[in-house]
This record gives sequence, structure tokens and C-alpha cells, in this order.
Amino acid sequence: MAKSQKSAQEKQQEPAKIQPAKGKLGIMIPGMGAVATTFVAGVEAVRKGLARPIGSLTQMGTIRLGRRTEGRFPQVKEFVPLAALDDLVFTGWDPFDDDMYTAAKKAGVLENEMLDKIKPFLSTVKPRPAVFDRNYVKKLDGHHVKKGKNKMDLAEQVRADIQDFKKTSGASRLVIMWCGSTEIFLQPTAAHQSVKAFEKAMQQNDEGIAPSMIYAYASLMEGVPFANGAPNLTVDLPVMLELSRKNDAPICGKDFKTGQTLMKTILAPGFKARLLGLAGWFSTNILGNRDGEVLDDPGSFKTKEESKLSVLEHILQPDLYPELYGKFTHKVRINYYPPRGDNKEGWDNIDIFGWLGYPMQIKVDFLCRDSILAAPIVLDLVLFLDLAKRTPELRGIGIQEWLSFYFKSPMTVPGLYPEHDLFIQSMKLKNTLRHLKGEELITHLGLEYYD
Ligand SMILES: NC(=O)c1ccc[n+]([C@@H]2O[C@H](COP(=O)([O-])OP(=O)(O)OC[C@H]3O[C@@H](n4cnc5c(N)ncnc54)[C@H](O)[C@@H]3O)[C@@H](O)[C@H]2O)c1
Repeated sequence: MAKSQKSAQEKQQEPAKIQPAKGKLGIMIPGMGAVATTFVAGVEAVRKGLARPIGSLTQMGTIRLGRRTEGRFPQVKEFVPLAALDDLVFTGWDPFDDDMYTAAKKAGVLENEMLDKIKPFLSTVKPRPAVFDRNYVKKLDGHHVKKGKNKMDLAEQVRADIQDFKKTSGASRLVIMWCGSTEIFLQPTAAHQSVKAFEKAMQQNDEGIAPSMIYAYASLMEGVPFANGAPNLTVDLPVMLELSRKNDAPICGKDFKTGQTLMKTILAPGFKARLLGLAGWFSTNILGNRDGEVLDDPGSFKTKEESKLSVLEHILQPDLYPELYGKFTHKVRINYYPPRGDNKEGWDNIDIFGWLGYPMQIKVDFLCRDSILAAPIVLDLVLFLDLAKRTPELRGIGIQEWLSFYFKSPMTVPGLYPEHDLFIQSMKLKNTLRHLKGEELITHLGLEYYD
């Protein structure tokens, strides 16, 4: 049905208007390491016309509207009102006091030639002292750290940073994006069940409250959307959902879907669609960046492992297909190997079986660049979270499940299993955008072409 043909009833159901993206959008990043610097340097390089924003749906993607015969394929950034790259301003926190130019050099992702062209800009982005505690990231020892009488005091200091940045940068809106190291594995406790319990626990320095949660609390108290790029619990807690809804601060997470897991969520839906069985999937990685070093600690690796392992179970649905997926072995290894730096190598050995149970093997060797894959995700997430904040229908719902596309462990409301299939996630995202603009959802049924 063309837009003009819509019934009066449908028109009435059109959601309230999205506010325009007026003024600057301030992006605050706890963790100014490889991913964060590759993202910020990349935005500046694109702004200066030095490179293209490849991998970013908001910058390069299009969206089909209406019937295939209508030929309507606007760019995503023209279809929904997103902040322009020229309007982005940045700051962050880190336990190391390197400015973004120095941190990007150390991360070793981008070439010096590119970094030197944007040095004047990158050098101005300096980290604020971090809320940091070695008990949660054992391999790091930074000293650019906030001091406070308890965790509540630290949260107040982060809130003051947020207010200060809004004032000094002149930003009209803010988004906070966790790009910090992976913290040790934690499970929700009574302290995380409500705002009241959480605040009391912060005053008592409860050890269940990790630094990333302190940033998340401060962000949501300030009504600022928060995304979590690491596998830590952070915003995946009842207290954060409560705050997010109460203060109209959208949340999403967790763990950017790059590299090996991206490949898994591309391949596994294909096996399931063709009813090919899986006997085992062995994944191993070598990487040599700081993230790899942090993940060398068993506590941090456990957090990552949980996030990586759940993907196949959810996609393959062993309960529905016990003969095909009831008994597969899934192993994930990450090895810290300094010579490779940020250029990770991920090997997958996949043992599948087909007709009459005959076995086959697939080998994938992905020589990827972790931060190059993560940077466009960060960009899309901050722009879409800002859109959510300006959209009456989205700002008060808490978790933005339509952004699952970007995460290894997508957050959902309690009781709802996450959708991991990349293609379903992509359809969900685009249909959400169509829905927000009162466009017809696309089901791919297509029978109408044969009437
Ligand atoms: N690159 C990818 O493809 C990818 C994919 C999924 C998830 N991630 C996650 O993204 C995060 C960032 O990855 P990276 O490669 O940039 O790592 P990195 O080690 O280069 O950067 C992390 C930064 O966080 C800082 N940090 C640690 N604790 C902090 C705290 N409490 N407050 C503020 N800063 C803190 C560290 O000092 C460091 O500078 C990691 O958790 C990683 O697991 C990355």
C-alpha cells in the first residue's frame, strides 16, 4: 500500500513526531583505547574528506520503502533525522592520561600518515580522570583516577563531569558509550535489583558494583542514553532498566558484534535455514592489543566467553532441532599474542553434517582488524541512541532491542530471549525506522506482485 493510500485509522496511529537533531551532539566515552580512538579519528578523517565511513549503516546504508516497483531507496541518514558528523563533539574518561592522538598512536590501529593529518584535533580530546579499580580489570594499572569516599561519591563526580561537558562543549544532547576494558565476570545480586538498593550499596562500597556501573548510573541519572560495547553487566541490570525508563534515557548493549562472532551470526543462520546439522564449532583467536592483554586474565575472559558462547545456542535452537543441534561442542579461545597488535586472526573449524548424517568441515580464517570493525558500530550506536532519545515512542521504553544488530549479547526485557541472527536483526532495525516514520513494514511476502 502506498503511503498516500493509507487509511485514516492507520494515519492516526502514526507515532508522535521525532524532534529534529538541532545543535551539537556530545559523545562521552569511558575507555579511550583502540576502539574509541579509531572511532573519533575516523569521524574526523571523514569530516575532512580523507576517508570514507565504510561499515556504517547510518552513513552509507539505504532503506527500501514501499513496494519493490516503487524504486524508493533513500539513504538512512536522510530518512530519519540523525545528528550530522560535523555536529559531533567528544570527550571521555581513562585511567591513563594520554590525549587521543597519543592513545591512537599507542593503539597502533591507524597509520601515522592519517593520524598526523588530524593531530591538531585529536590532541585536544583529553580524558577526564576515570572511575577505575584494579579489582575489576586486573591487567591494568592506570593512575589518572578519581578519588572519593565511596562509590556514590564517585558517581556524583561523574555526574558533575557530564554537566560540565554539556556546558563547556555547548552540546544540546549527550550520549555515553562504554568502550572501556572488559571487567571481571560478575552476576547480578540484591544490590542491583532497584535504584534504592543500588544507591545504598554504592554508599557501602558493595563489591558487586563495578566502575562501568557507576558511569551507567551517573549517565541515566542525568537522562543521558548509555550503550555498552563490552560484555560487562553494566546496564544489563534491573536498576538500570528502572532508571532508563524513569529518566527517558535509552540503553543498549552488550559487547560489539565484530570479527568472529559476526561471522558466526552470518554462517549459523544459513546452516539452520538449510537444516544442516552441527557437530562442533571450535573458535580460536590470537590478538595482541591491550584488549587481548586484559582478556588474558581469566576473570575478564570469563565475561567475554559467556558473551561469545550464547550466540550459537540462541540461533540454532537445539530444543526445536535436537537431532541437528542437540549435541554440538562449542569452544572459544582467545590467546594474547603481542606481535599481532590490533590485527586479530580468528580461526574457526566447523564440523557440520548433511544428508544421511555425512560429515563435512568448514574452515574460516578471518584476518580481521578489530577496531576497524568496531568503529562504525560505535558511530551508528551513538547516532541511533540520540535518535531514540528524540523519539517519543522510544525514549521511555528502556532497552532498545532494535539495536541488537550491533551486539554479541543483545539486551532484552526479562523473559524474552535475544535475537542473534544478523539478518533478522537487520530487518528489525530497518522495520523500526520504517515504523517510526509511518512507512509500511516490509515482510518480503511479495505475493501482491503476482495478483
Ligand atoms: N574491538 C572490537 O572488535 C571489540 C569487540 C567487542 C567488544 N570490544 C570491547 O570494547 C572494549 C574496548 O576495546 P579496545 O580494543 O578499545 O580496548 P583497549 O584496551 O584498547 O581500550 C580500553 C580502554 O579502557 C580503559 N579503561 C579500563 N577501565 C576503565 C574505566 N574504569 N574507566 C575508563 N576507562 C577505562 C583502558 O585504560 C583502555 O584505554 C573492550 O571491553 C573490548 O572487549 C571490542
